[in-house]
Amino acid sequence: MNQNCIISAINKESAEYLENFQQNQLLGNEFKQSLSSVIFHSNKQAIAKHTERGKLLVRQRIDLLVDEGTSFLELSSLAAFGQWDNQFPSAGIVTGIGLVEGIQCMIVANDATVKGGTYIKETIKKHVRAQEMAIQNQLPCIYLVDSGGVYLPEQANVFPDRFDFGRVFYNQSKLSAMGLPQISIVMGSCTAGGAYVPAMSDQTIIVKNQGTIFIGGPPLVKAATGEDVSAEELGGAYVHTTISGVADYLAQDDVDAIKICRDLIAQSNQRKAPKIQSFKEPKYAIEELLGIIPITGKKVVHPHEIIARVADGSEFHEFKKSYAPNLVTGFVHICGIQAGIIANNGFLTAEAARKGTHFIELCDQRGIPLLFLQNITGFIVGKTYEHQGIARDGAKMIHAVTNTGVPKITLVTGGSYGAGNYAMSGRAYDPEFLFLWPNSKTAVMGGEQAASVLQTIKNKDQQEEHPLINQFHDESTAYYSTSRLWDDGIIDPLETRKILAQALSIVTNKPINKGAFGVYRM
Ligand code: COA
Repeated sequence: MNQNCIISAINKESAEYLENFQQNQLLGNEFKQSLSSVIFHSNKQAIAKHTERGKLLVRQRIDLLVDEGTSFLELSSLAAFGQWDNQFPSAGIVTGIGLVEGIQCMIVANDATVKGGTYIKETIKKHVRAQEMAIQNQLPCIYLVDSGGVYLPEQANVFPDRFDFGRVFYNQSKLSAMGLPQISIVMGSCTAGGAYVPAMSDQTIIVKNQGTIFIGGPPLVKAATGEDVSAEELGGAYVHTTISGVADYLAQDDVDAIKICRDLIAQSNQRKAPKIQSFKEPKYAIEELLGIIPITGKKVVHPHEIIARVADGSEFHEFKKSYAPNLVTGFVHICGIQAGIIANNGFLTAEAARKGTHFIELCDQRGIPLLFLQNITGFIVGKTYEHQGIARDGAKMIHAVTNTGVPKITLVTGGSYGAGNYAMSGRAYDPEFLFLWPNSKTAVMGGEQAASVLQTIKNKDQQEEHPLINQFHDESTAYYSTSRLWDDGIIDPLETRKILAQALSIVTNKPINKGAFGVYRM
C-alpha cells in the first residue's frame, strides 16, 4: 500500500458509528425533502399558466442548455427557504455552473412561476453572487431571462444600495470588459430593470411570441402617455430583431433559443475545460461519512477520516504531521486535481495558526488551490495563550487567508464559530466556493456560551437567558445560513467528492496568481 494512504481507525460496529449513521441519514432525508419542495414547488396554477404558454420550466431549460451527460452544479438552491412564507422557492432564480460545448459557464435563470420571476433581496444576492463567481473564476455568463423586474412591495430593500439591483448591470459591464461573453435569452417578460439584462448583454436571443423587452410595460405606457399598445407591438421579438436592434437572434421557441445559445458559446473562442485525467477512487466508501459525522456538534471529526473518503486513493501527503496536530495540513488529489487541505482538528492554537500560515504560503508559491475543511470552535482562550500572543499568530493566518492569490474552497463540516470562521476562510474572505454539510452550525459562538457570557456581564439569572439559547440555536443552522446566502449551498455529504472535484475543476479554469502579503506581526 502507498505510504501516504490513510488507514481508517473507524469501528463500523460501534454504537457511536451506528447512531451517527442513523441520525445523519435522517438529516440527509430532511435535506432532500427540502430540496424537492423548492424544485417541485406547490404553485400549480403558476406552473400550468407557464407551460400552457409553451414555455419550459426553468430547470428543464438548464438541462437542455448544458452538455448531455454532464452535471450542473446548482448553487444556493435553498435561498429564501423558510422565509416569505416559502413563497419564493430558490428565491425565484436558479444559478449554477455547467459545461456548454465543453466550456464552463455560469448560468443565471429566472423562474417565472415564482411571482413572475421578480426580485426580492435574496434573488438579487443570488444573482450578484453568481456574477461575482463568474468574475472570480473567469466564466462566460448565460442569462435565461423571464422576469418582471423588482418585486414592487420590496422596492426600498432591493433598489438603491450598492449591492442591490443596479449591481447586476454593473457586473455585466465589468464581465463584458473582461472579455467574458454575456449572452441572454429572452424567454418571457423583461420589464423595466429586467430589460437591462438583455440590453447589457454582448449577444441576445429572443423567443417569438414569448419574449418582450421594454422599459415600461403597456399599463405604464397607458398611464404615462395615454398610448394603447400591446406587449408584442411595444417590445416583442419581431420589434427587437428587425426594428430596434435590441436583440440579435430570433428563436422559434425555448428549444430553438437554447440551440442558438449553445452555438454562440461554441463560437465564443473561450478556453475549454480540461479533460479529466484518470484517477484512483478512495479506498473507503463515501457512505461511511454518515457514521463519522458527529451528531452532537461538540465532537471533533478526525479530518483524516473525511480525507480518506474524499481523496484519490485515500492518499494524503501530510505536511508537519507531528507539529500542532490541531490543524491538519497536506496535499491531496481529488478526481485528478491537486489541492492543499487545511482541516481543523480542535480549537486553533498559536502553533496551529503559524502552521496554517506556512502551509498557505507554500500553496501560494506553487499555485495549488486551497481546500478548507472547517470545523472550528475558535481560537484557544486563557491567560497562558494570551501571554503567548495567540492574537498575533491568529492574525498571521487571517492575513495569509486574505491575501493568498490561489483559489480557496471552504466546506463547513461541523461548527463555524468566532474568529475560527475567519481564519478558516469564511464568507468574508472571498472563497471561490463555500459549501455546508446539513449538520453544520455557523455563529459567533454557541447559544449556551452566549447566554453564559451575557449572564456574567449583566448578572441576570439563567432563566432570562433561555430565549437567547433558542435564538442562537435557530440562527446557527445550515438552513438559516443558506436561506440568507451566507454560503453557496448545503451539499449532501455523499456528494462531497463529486462537488469538490467540480469546484476544483472550475477554480483551476483560469491562470492561478501568487498573492501579495501584508505585514505579519512577529
Ligand atoms: N412586483 C410584485 N409582484 C409582481 C410583479 C412585480 N413587479 N410582477 C408580477 N408580480 C406577481 C403577481 O402579482 C402575481 O402574484 P400572485 O401569484 O400572488 O397572484 C405573480 O407575480 C405572477 O404575475 P402574473 O401577472 O399573474 O403573471 P404573468 O406571467 O401573466 O405576467 C409579468 C408576469 C411579470 C409579465 C407581469 O406580472 C408584469 O408585467 N408585472 C409587472 C412588471 C413591472 O412593471 N415591473 C416593474 C418593476 S422593475
